[in-house]
Amino acid sequence: MSEGNRMTDRTIRTVDDVLRLLDGLFAPEADRWTAGGAAWWDDFYTDRSQPVPFFADKPDENLVAYLDRRGDGPGRALDLGCGPGRNALHLAARGWEVDAVDLSPVAIAWAEERAREAGADVRFHRGDAFALAGTELTGPYDLVYDSGCFHHLPPHRRVSYLALLDDVLAPGGHFGLTCFAAGGMGSEEPDAALYRQSRLHGGLAYTPGSLRWIFSDLEEVELRRMRDEPPGSACFGEPFLHTALFARPRPAGHARPGPPAVPGGPDDRPPAPAVTDG
Ligand SMILES: C[S@@+](CC[C@H](N)C(=O)[O-])C[C@H]1O[C@@H](n2cnc3c(N)ncnc32)[C@H](O)[C@@H]1O
Repeated sequence: MSEGNRMTDRTIRTVDDVLRLLDGLFAPEADRWTAGGAAWWDDFYTDRSQPVPFFADKPDENLVAYLDRRGDGPGRALDLGCGPGRNALHLAARGWEVDAVDLSPVAIAWAEERAREAGADVRFHRGDAFALAGTELTGPYDLVYDSGCFHHLPPHRRVSYLALLDDVLAPGGHFGLTCFAAGGMGSEEPDAALYRQSRLHGGLAYTPGSLRWIFSDLEEVELRRMRDEPPGSACFGEPFLHTALFARPRPAGHARPGPPAVPGGPDDRPPAPAVTDG
């Protein structure tokens, strides 16, 4: 090969090349977000008798509250990192057309088993949501829902996450999230320190301010701590998590009324008192 055509160790040309390089800065055992992390999750889901709160087949309390107050009827939903499928199954039971994706074949097998038992119709996809977006996961979705996947991503994969939302979330659609709350659970190390340590410490904690900033292209509908649901409740709820609901703005000229304001949410607060000099 002539010197002019020889490949070198120069591996970065595109944003995807940068993202893959940054993936590789983390220790292999820290990986919970690429195809290489599937084995870790498979192992995690193999023993179903573990006392893991989200192993119970109950939907998130905030998802149920959103569906209860939603003005529009059911639409198309995507459950990102669906695990054993508890939220996807609830959406299907309420008439939604649901795609649900997870890295872990063991989680998907468990979710499919639950769907068969419930007679629920959910399209499950095994694999990396970022790789499947635009091929198997085409959208547009009226709801993209994520319970516990986002906080396992390294900081640079927020770029992929926002691109995924941009690709698949319908204008006027909603994005619902539950993730570790700073002060509740998860690592509060700054982003740069995580790369120096090559670890994610089991998941990242987020403040309300960080979530607002990261998802600032969307409109905030609600952002609060998750309610603490007692063991006998029909819903899942743990106060060490934040729940957030955002709406994707419609293009100018296509405005339609959104869902009713969340009690105490940003659209339901009394106007701030006027600031006067002296
Ligand atoms: C904490 S579990 C939550 C499972 C489920 N949402 C629940 O609440 O019951 C996080 C899930 O995200 C999945 N996950 C992480 N990265 C992913 C990716 N890039 N694509 C698809 N799934 C992913 C994992 O396999 C894991 O099942």
